[in-house]
Order: sequence, then C-alpha cells, then structure tokens
Amino acid sequence: MGFPRHRSARPGRSAGRPPAPPLTIRAGTVRDTRTIYAMLKGLAGYERLLGRFRSSVERVRRDGFGARRYFRTLICRLGPRPVGVAVYFFTYSTFEARPTLYVEDVFVWPRDRGRGAGGALLAELARIAVRKGCARMEWTVLDWNAPAIRFYERLGTIMRKEWVLARLTGAPLRRLAHTRSGAKRRNG
Ligand SMILES: CC(C)(COP(=O)(O)OP(=O)(O)OC[C@H]1O[C@@H](n2cnc3c(N)ncnc32)[C@H](O)[C@@H]1OP(=O)(O)O)[C@@H](O)C(=O)NCCC(=O)NCCS
Repeated sequence: MGFPRHRSARPGRSAGRPPAPPLTIRAGTVRDTRTIYAMLKGLAGYERLLGRFRSSVERVRRDGFGARRYFRTLICRLGPRPVGVAVYFFTYSTFEARPTLYVEDVFVWPRDRGRGAGGALLAELARIAVRKGCARMEWTVLDWNAPAIRFYERLGTIMRKEWVLARLTGAPLRRLAHTRSGAKRRNG
C-alpha cells in the first residue's frame, strides 16, 4: 500500500462537504511541543494508560528538542491543523548490522481518523527508514487494539508473538542497579 507524501483527505467520506484540505507531513519542531504533548496525552487516554502518563510539556521540550534529543517527531496536518503525530528514534540490530527505526507512538485525533493521516505518517516513517539504511521499522501494539492491528497488518506488518517484551522498572530496577556484583566497572 502506498501513501503519497501529500494528498487530499479521502474523497467520498466528505460527500456534501467542501473539498477537504490537503494532508501534509513535516518533522516536528520545538514550536510543536504543546501539540505533541496534547496528542501523547490523547494516546495515553486511548490506551487506558493515563494513570501511568508522566509526561509534561517541559519533558517533551527537553527530551525531544533539548541538548540531548532522545526522540524525533513527525506532525501530520490537515490544512493548517495538526491532526496526527508519530514519535520515533533509532535503535540498532547487531544481527543485521544496521540501524532500525523504532516507532514509539502514532496517534491521530479521533475526529480526524480514517482520512489517511495514520497511513501517511507510517509511510513517511518507512521512507525515513529506507533512506537511513535501516534493516526494519518496528513497534509494539496492545493486544486488544484490534483496529490498529488490522491497519498494520494491511500494510504488511508481521506480529511477532514469539518475542515477549522484557521490562525492568521501579523498585526491581533500582534494586538491581544497587546490587554489588563481583565485577568492578572500569572505564575504557
Ligand atoms: C491507528 C491510527 C493511528 C490510524 O490513523 P488513521 O488516520 O485513522 O489512519 P488512516 O486513515 O490512514 O487509515 C485508517 C484505517 O485505520 C483503521 N483504524 C485503526 N484504528 C482506528 C481507530 N481507532 N479509529 C478509526 N479507524 C482506525 C481503520 O480501520 C481504517 O481502515 P480503512 O482505511 O480500511 O477504513 C488512528 O486510528 C489512531 O490514532 N488510533 C488510536 C491510537 C492508536 O491505536 N495508535 C496506535 C498505537 S500502536
């Protein structure tokens, strides 16, 4: 499935209304900080994870646009209005010996879904992955998020159920960090 870089929102779904403005995508800038924050909060709400959402406008500014940038963003607009966001960063596959593009988040505001914004964001991520010589792009999706899984599968995405996400956080993480092992760390 191919999504052109710029295209009009899908015809047919707007019958009787004036023609939809074009979809455009560009890299997020520090001026998009509040928009990105609002959309990430929207995604946390959709994923029923608002209770664990610790982000803030300041964190998005610092970690996305500060001295040490941990993630990059794409903003999708419908005319002048931001309707969707993708957050990604680069990881590395030692087996493929190439970088990989990790998609942390994709989100489109509910009223703007089904007009091609999500597909256009993923297509732009694919173009970046290919341009940067990545072995693959990948991400996780909650197992109950059937509409998103169907959407990804239609793009040719494979769900790798044999890989289980391993996560160490909170007290166990701190406990391990403070464990005295036999090994002494040396620099160099
Ligand atoms: C998944 C998502 C990014 C797709 O964006 P979008 O702009 O609706 O995508 P497109 O218009 O390019 O494609 C729409 C397709 O997505 C599917 N879709 C997936 N999740 C959907 C949702 N929650 N609501 C509406 N459509 C959804 C539709 O079935 C539609 O398929 P169709 O083209 O055959 O009708 C968007 O629906 C979204 O933000 N969902 C909630 C958050 C989410 O699930 N994010 C991904 C987490 S891994």
